Amino acid sequence: MLKILKQHQDWRKQSLNLIASENILSPAVRKALDTDLLGRYAEGTAGKRFYQGLVFFDQMEQMTTQAFADHFKASFVDIRPISGAVANLAVFSALTSPGDTIITLGIDGGSHISHEKMGASGLLGLNIHHFDIDANGQIDIKKAQEKILELKPKFIILSGSVILFPMPVKELKEACAKVGAKIVYDAAHVFGLIFSGYFQNPLSEGADIIVASTHKTFPGPQGGIIIGNIDPELQKAIQRKIFPGITSNHHLYRIPGLYTAFSEMKKYGKQYMGQTIKNAKALASALEKNGFDVCYKQKGFTASHQVLINVANCGGGTDVAKKLEDANIIVNKNMILGDKSALNPSGIRIGVQEITRMGAKEKEMKTIANLFKQLLLDNIEISKVKKQVVAFRRKYQKVKFSL
Ligand SMILES: Cc1ncc(COP(=O)(O)O)c(C=O)c1O
Repeated sequence: MLKILKQHQDWRKQSLNLIASENILSPAVRKALDTDLLGRYAEGTAGKRFYQGLVFFDQMEQMTTQAFADHFKASFVDIRPISGAVANLAVFSALTSPGDTIITLGIDGGSHISHEKMGASGLLGLNIHHFDIDANGQIDIKKAQEKILELKPKFIILSGSVILFPMPVKELKEACAKVGAKIVYDAAHVFGLIFSGYFQNPLSEGADIIVASTHKTFPGPQGGIIIGNIDPELQKAIQRKIFPGITSNHHLYRIPGLYTAFSEMKKYGKQYMGQTIKNAKALASALEKNGFDVCYKQKGFTASHQVLINVANCGGGTDVAKKLEDANIIVNKNMILGDKSALNPSGIRIGVQEITRMGAKEKEMKTIANLFKQLLLDNIEISKVKKQVVAFRRKYQKVKFSL
């Protein structure tokens, strides 16, 4: 086991990770994770526990919850969900009963599996409808307003795993208010961007609840969070779904690390997230100049940390992702609007938040785009490209924007 682990670590140090849903933890966050709390238990809410031994942990949980509540000016925050999908399950189940209707983006429109039939929404027996997505990958607002008024969903869910541009929260608020539908904004990917003010603030635009992961653009330990301005009854319902509904112990060791990441983002978030978006835009333009079919050119490619490329002409998402992996570049295959198969999609999704955290800037995005060109368009030998990736990565080993 230790031998394989070492192989993994050595390989990852020499690889360029461009998975959009991941990040690396700073030494300060790692230090806060490796503590006595790794093996401890808590059930319930701070001050109302079923286990003893939590005198100091309760303080840490309350301090972290309050920090996020103050930052987002929110009346309700819960940091107990152990992941974004668990946060979604808690919120969706608090808002619905089996058979209720919801509206989502649909997988090829960018939603996450937890929004759909195969995930949390399906497990809850919800009646799932999809928004119509236009050629720019955007929700058709007029049709969406009509659909909301006609279907009267319990909630709509905006944002997802492909999130390149802000969502029409304001535009759909009135229709939702008319039929009593809540707006749930899944900020799993863009939580860091929202935190630092570089993406729409869903709550101030009219969303009722933000659900998110704490480990994608927000560089904390893997976990989930729920934030909202909601009435006390719904707050209680969500809390009950988290415990005793979905979790018993909520993996306490995450919390000091989450607070540390919060502090890092308070201090460096503006710089870090600002550079991340600049890099995503720079990479998208460089790839396009190099001959790639980068999605949504007419909208400026991206306003987030992500870039979506249609690689159907290079063999499709599955083959391209494997070829890149063989050259030490890690991405994931991804559906493009209109694709039917998640296993054999036309696209790949790229995220630049991790390499940005290692100090890469716009110039380095050109280098990365050139590596893609050599490998996928010029058919240069994989081993030759891999050598360049290893050399490139040698210069980016330290975590920046870190306490
Ligand atoms: C939009 C969205 N929501 C929820 C999740 C699930 O989050 P987690 O992996 O933290 O459970 C993801 C995962 O990538 C996601 O992209």
